[in-house]
Amino acid sequence: MSKFMDWIDARFPATKMWEEHLSKYYAPKNFNFLYFFGSLALLVLVNQIVTGVWLTMSFTPSAEEAFASVEYIMRDVEYGWILRYLHSTGASAFFVVVYLHMFRGLLYGSYQKPRELVWLFGMLIYLALMAEAFMGYLLPWGQMSYWGAQVIISLFGAIPVIGDDLTQWIRGDYLISGITLNRFFALHVVALPIVILGLVVLHILALHEVGSNNPDGVDIKKKKDENGIPLDGIPFHPYYTVKDIVGVVVFLFVFCAVVFFFPEMGGYFLEKPNFEQANAFKTPEHIAPVWYFTPFYAILRAVPDKLMGVIAMGSAIAVLFVLPWLDRSPVRSMRYKGWISKVFLLVFCISFVILGILGVLAPTPGRTLLSQVCTVLYFAYFLLMPFYTRLEKTKPVPERVTG
Ligand code: HEM
Repeated sequence: MSKFMDWIDARFPATKMWEEHLSKYYAPKNFNFLYFFGSLALLVLVNQIVTGVWLTMSFTPSAEEAFASVEYIMRDVEYGWILRYLHSTGASAFFVVVYLHMFRGLLYGSYQKPRELVWLFGMLIYLALMAEAFMGYLLPWGQMSYWGAQVIISLFGAIPVIGDDLTQWIRGDYLISGITLNRFFALHVVALPIVILGLVVLHILALHEVGSNNPDGVDIKKKKDENGIPLDGIPFHPYYTVKDIVGVVVFLFVFCAVVFFFPEMGGYFLEKPNFEQANAFKTPEHIAPVWYFTPFYAILRAVPDKLMGVIAMGSAIAVLFVLPWLDRSPVRSMRYKGWISKVFLLVFCISFVILGILGVLAPTPGRTLLSQVCTVLYFAYFLLMPFYTRLEKTKPVPERVTG
């Protein structure tokens, strides 16, 4: 075995990579459950790719046959129903996991120096993931696939001068048609998965270059033993590979419960109008995007002017990119930040959830007002951050991690 590995290592850095990223990657010893979500995101990514490849084997990307081919997968293809439910539930699970993963970053200041690039690659993944989910949703060619895409693509029409040409260019036609379906299929199954995979590699390489943050936000590299190993670090393998299995088991219990017992999740994971084939002559009574887009959809609707609404929605995502430069706090973790930061993060999270709920509901004057208040609070978290993080009193950060 060792001779075989010597042969490989002389030609490919297998042992070197294993050591650098697993057996000799020293991670802080105080990771809590919020650190499960990175590896869970990897698990869901693999699930999406594997089930996606198998779905592609029986799916037909044409306006005439797409809807029927999904029904065929559900009824006639051996185990087709489970492949589809694993994939559709996986899409929602991806966003649950990624939102919690991002929340962990906000809580412990993981985006701060020197992890700005880890955060930026993460944000690019998030953007690509949104595009991936949006394009995937058109493929079953149901009523919500069609009209959801219609609403989102028409937003580009609000852009002055080039708007109309741009929407036509995206659709490849004067209206959403089989041509649109075909190009979304190509992007969904080939282009975007490659982009996402590449970005995930960059994300992890950037993280391993600087080392993981932790719930205390303490830099473990400052205190090393005589061999240069951080005193508060433990090798990722076997300690965290084994610990992550606990997260995987708990996750799979919940995930399988949804896949086997509530795959539609009350119309939130698979929306009711999507059980009817796309019909360009029949607008559904109420068009709402899937739950993971609804906070941004609510921000769009909170602004009366269409172009300003599109700008507000774009800015809500764009502002996350500059987060590392908005936080001026001398400490990373919320444990040692002052009460103003804590209140702002709490208010931000509550506003995000309320916006998510409002985005599913039909608008009323009262709801629009509430969405405007929440939009202001959403942006206040970011735009006031340079001020409150500098002004507030922080607690002293311990020398070593506290556990
Ligand atoms: C496909 C999606 C993603 C995958 C597979 C992924 C994977 C990972 C993994 C495996 C880790 C190390 C383990 C951990 O700290 O949990 C990590 C860390 C991190 N990720 Fe992601 N990630 C994804 C998306 C994102 C997004 C969207 C963001 C934020 C915009 C993000 C920000 C971070 C940060 C800041 C860290 C360092 C955390 C720390 O050290 O405290 N990631 N990611």
